Amino acid sequence: MSGFSADWLALREPADARARSSALIAQAAARLAAQAAPLVCDLGSGTGAGMRAFAPAFPADTRWCLTDNDPDTLAIAARADARVETRLTDLAADPAPWPEDCVLVTATALFDLASPAWIDRLADRLAADRLPLLACLTYDGRLGLSPAHPGDAALCAAFNRHQRHDKGLGGDAAGPGAVDALCAALADRGYTVARADSPWRLAAGRDDALIAELLRGWAGAMANADLVPSATARDWLASRLARTDRLTVGHADIYAAPREG
Ligand SMILES: C[S@@+](CC[C@H](N)C(=O)[O-])C[C@H]1O[C@@H](n2cnc3c(N)ncnc32)[C@H](O)[C@@H]1O
Repeated sequence: MSGFSADWLALREPADARARSSALIAQAAARLAAQAAPLVCDLGSGTGAGMRAFAPAFPADTRWCLTDNDPDTLAIAARADARVETRLTDLAADPAPWPEDCVLVTATALFDLASPAWIDRLADRLAADRLPLLACLTYDGRLGLSPAHPGDAALCAAFNRHQRHDKGLGGDAAGPGAVDALCAALADRGYTVARADSPWRLAAGRDDALIAELLRGWAGAMANADLVPSATARDWLASRLARTDRLTVGHADIYAAPREG
């Protein structure tokens, strides 16, 4: 599996669904309930997992616009529901690809890829249009692995450094600092920001495929970026694949709305 392939997005979708803050989704839904046929725009939608997760809580007549720069995953989203509008768009060039009548912007697992400067640009555009934002599953830098392995600290520290590399969204990524950057950017622009932890709590037996894919991805990325010696990454991966009972990946969700008046 590579990058943001449909296979990878499908593998993570159930863990994302368990982790999302239902309280923050309900806050966003309450605001939509007052409007007829509200239009929601999902940024970096992939195949539409965010829409699938939010739709049961949102009004039945909600309209959707899904945006991504990957034509393959976007095509899957379009095929699944012909009523959904899809927009092939590079968020690096335009952080605000929402239609004019959009009333809520959503995103899942996106903002840790973005630079602090890009987050500021997005916040400017949201504030200019007085749009609320529901952002789920932004990585927050906290990793937990059980049982402990002597290589965990080095690998986790290297992973967090890797998360700050440029991911094509405005320069060096905010990575583990993205949640704080997003909250600060929106609060500075007069938003009321609610935040909730939404960690993946993965367990052997139920989540074996996702755990193995994560471990392989991390070890490969660390070695490729020369953040740890390749032999260290290889040995750590072999031990981890042999036994990882629980894996926690810290995320946070936010719901931010412009103050009335
Ligand atoms: C971690 S995936 C999450 C996908 C989806 N939100 C989900 O939950 O399944 C990040 C998504 O952001 C998209 N993305 C990354 N950089 C982008 C850019 N510059 N413009 C538009 N989309 C981008 C990727 O193609 C990918 O679909």
